[in-house]
Amino acid sequence: MAVVVCASATGAPGVTTTALGLALTWPRHVLLVDGDREPAQSIQAGYLRGMDHGGRGMMRLAQLHREGTLLAPELWRQTLPLVEGGDVQRRFLPGFTTPGAARLFEHVWPAFGEAVRALDGQGADVLVDIGRIGNSGLPLGLLASADAVLVGVRSSLRSLAAAHIHLPTLEDQLRTLNAVVPAALAVVGPDRPYSTAEIAAQFALPAWVEAPWDPKAAAVLSDGEPEPRRFAASSYMGRFRSQASMLQDRLIRARDVVAAGVDR
Ligand SMILES: Nc1ncnc2c1ncn2[C@@H]1O[C@H](COP(=O)(O)OP(=O)(O)O)[C@@H](O)[C@H]1O
Ligand SMILES: [Mg+2]
Repeated sequence: MAVVVCASATGAPGVTTTALGLALTWPRHVLLVDGDREPAQSIQAGYLRGMDHGGRGMMRLAQLHREGTLLAPELWRQTLPLVEGGDVQRRFLPGFTTPGAARLFEHVWPAFGEAVRALDGQGADVLVDIGRIGNSGLPLGLLASADAVLVGVRSSLRSLAAAHIHLPTLEDQLRTLNAVVPAALAVVGPDRPYSTAEIAAQFALPAWVEAPWDPKAAAVLSDGEPEPRRFAASSYMGRFRSQASMLQDRLIRARDVVAAGVDR
């Protein structure tokens, strides 16, 4: 039903970890895309512990696009399983593997955006980890296909100061789109020291996700540290599960509002 772009202002607040936590607990079929334009292979080398991507991913999509192939039918084929088994399919699209690749992908984003949008019709939601907003903002071709943009921040002054610098770039970009694409915050480690409510008020943006501060549990996702027993049932993953489900509800409602032609 939805395409959610996950971004950070600067630094490493925990966007990849949060997007992965949401993908692992999402209530229906989901695709997590590594779209970081500063390639790091974080998920593949971290949570997936170096799983061989067998040539699949963003690089292959770029090549297919160059050859004039439609991306939508190819997208799912370019993915790896994030988890095996289960009723819900959780897939992962590997990211760029060379520093210059993201620049070459610039003209592919619109086609990529349309392809992820098409997955929607097949009953899967898409979370795109796009990395930092940076000096030139996020790919407009992707934003045009998004239902929402989540910006990850920590609750420290340092992280919030960086968000103050970079959020206006994103907000300017969102204003240029034909459709209303809301931006919302994902607060990683609230109350250290600022509360989610204070941060939301400060930025005049809603906070749609709160990831509890838990370095040990986070390292299981970010670095592929061994899972402690009953990790899936831990309070850390439980929080993701409830937030993923709330986020998905919110996105469905937001879409209904747009479909009804009511201003959000
Ligand atoms: N909820 C959390 N609590 C504690 N540490 C976290 C949390 N989420 C992420 N981290 C840690 O933050 C670091 C950066 O995470 P990462 O997701 O790679 O950041 P980003 O994608 O924003 O660059 C990692 O060491 C990760 O374990
Ligand atoms: Mg990251």
